[in-house]
Amino acid sequence: MVSRRGFLTGLALAPVVYAAGCSARTSAPGSAGSASTRPLPIPPLAPSRVGSDGVRRFTLRVQTGVTEMVRGSETPTWGFSGSVLGPTVRARRGEKVAFTITNDLPEATSVHWHGMHLPAKFDGGPHQMIAPGAVWEPAWTIQQQAATLWYHPHPHGATEKHVNRGLSGLFLIDDDEANALDLPKDYGVDDIPLVIQDRRFHADGNLNETDTTDMGLLGDTIITNGIADAHLPVTTERVRLRILNGSSGRLYNLSFADGREFQLIAGDGGLLTKPVALTEIQLSPGERAELVITVRAGENVTLRSLPITERRGVDNVAEYGFDDTFDILTLRATDSLRASAAVPASLIPMRALAAANTPPTRSFELQWFMINNRRMDMNRIDMTIPVDTTEVWTVRNKDNWPHNFHVHDVQFQILAIDGNPPPPALSGWKDTVYTTPDVTYTLAMHFADHTDPTYPYMFHCHLLHHEDKGMMGQFLVLGPGQQPAPMQMDMTAQPGMSHH
Ligand code: C2O
Ligand code: CU
Ligand code: CU
Repeated sequence: MVSRRGFLTGLALAPVVYAAGCSARTSAPGSAGSASTRPLPIPPLAPSRVGSDGVRRFTLRVQTGVTEMVRGSETPTWGFSGSVLGPTVRARRGEKVAFTITNDLPEATSVHWHGMHLPAKFDGGPHQMIAPGAVWEPAWTIQQQAATLWYHPHPHGATEKHVNRGLSGLFLIDDDEANALDLPKDYGVDDIPLVIQDRRFHADGNLNETDTTDMGLLGDTIITNGIADAHLPVTTERVRLRILNGSSGRLYNLSFADGREFQLIAGDGGLLTKPVALTEIQLSPGERAELVITVRAGENVTLRSLPITERRGVDNVAEYGFDDTFDILTLRATDSLRASAAVPASLIPMRALAAANTPPTRSFELQWFMINNRRMDMNRIDMTIPVDTTEVWTVRNKDNWPHNFHVHDVQFQILAIDGNPPPPALSGWKDTVYTTPDVTYTLAMHFADHTDPTYPYMFHCHLLHHEDKGMMGQFLVLGPGQQPAPMQMDMTAQPGMSHH
């Protein structure tokens, strides 16, 4: 039902409330370029302060707001320290970070650090809920290489809703090795964060939260950094896009409209050993990719999502959006461009965790809303993993549905796909991998430290509807002689009452 009043009000107000979590760079209609696009909002860097103890402290507020996702329409949204998405958190390898997170939502939520190696009690999964009005204070030392990670809520059964309402932010890790490489690294200038999501709207601007398919929410409108129809002004010869597929269920097959080649330089867990020249890259929900693209002065280049080609074994491809084509973002090069260095021929070395033929430690079968025929039970530990071990897991999608597989706490290496070496694009550190039906993915990962007999980590399908429906399990990392302890379900209830 169209609410005439809501619709007219939305137009009349010409909303000023705009992606406060992002820079409020709206363009007036008729300003430079097309009147129908707005400049891509760049999420601000999260302010932080380093105390005398050397700890880098951040403050985040989970809040409600209103965002002009589609021009001329007001959408009630949720955001971190703003109306939608969140500031980009940035810290260095070796640094200790601490967060003060206040939940100003009308309901409980959590904040999970996707891709991060950290103690389980600070992982922000469904066992670390923050009650409305409460404060949660996780803190840990960054112990992994430079990468583009992200943070998002993880309340069991409601992750899709919380993320769809706008709660996602990027977490960039820096280190000396990555910094020494001559790559575009001027944030918001030639190093661009790009969160790609799909949304459905009601006529009054409200988000449509109906799960329309077995994949959950599937939107007909693409938003980039929180808004539809954006363009990116490009002022340098090369630009780096740090892309997150922040959608609930949609896969993207990203390419440029003229088919030009780009360099893939990083996957989920950081820079690859060397750049990979590609014309298309598929990203399933939760996956990241960093691309470097070269532009010519004065030209427009459109980032486009093409139909999904990796569709073997999936039944209702049209219903799952595999046939869709979307223009995602127009890169608009200025008439004179600052020169950029060529992408270095080698990036960051990676040591293989295990040989491709190492016998698997465990195997996982994905089907319907289950992993190994079980649905998530918050009171059940599905496996315990001895600390300081390298495990080899095989994962197979037994379904005719698309699924992917995400593991908390670690970055893994794909040793083999049906016995063959992974393609170069999947040869770096990963925390989420798409699983084509009937194909066996062999993954290797190392559980270095952070034992905890009480708090589990999660592994799950990152199609958020599937995860919410129980396509998830839990594991403990245990020290020598440690036994699983009674589980804790934290609900940080009062301001300042956080668990350490
Ligand atoms: Cu991005 Cu368990 O999640
Ligand atoms: Cu995660
Ligand atoms: Cu799934």
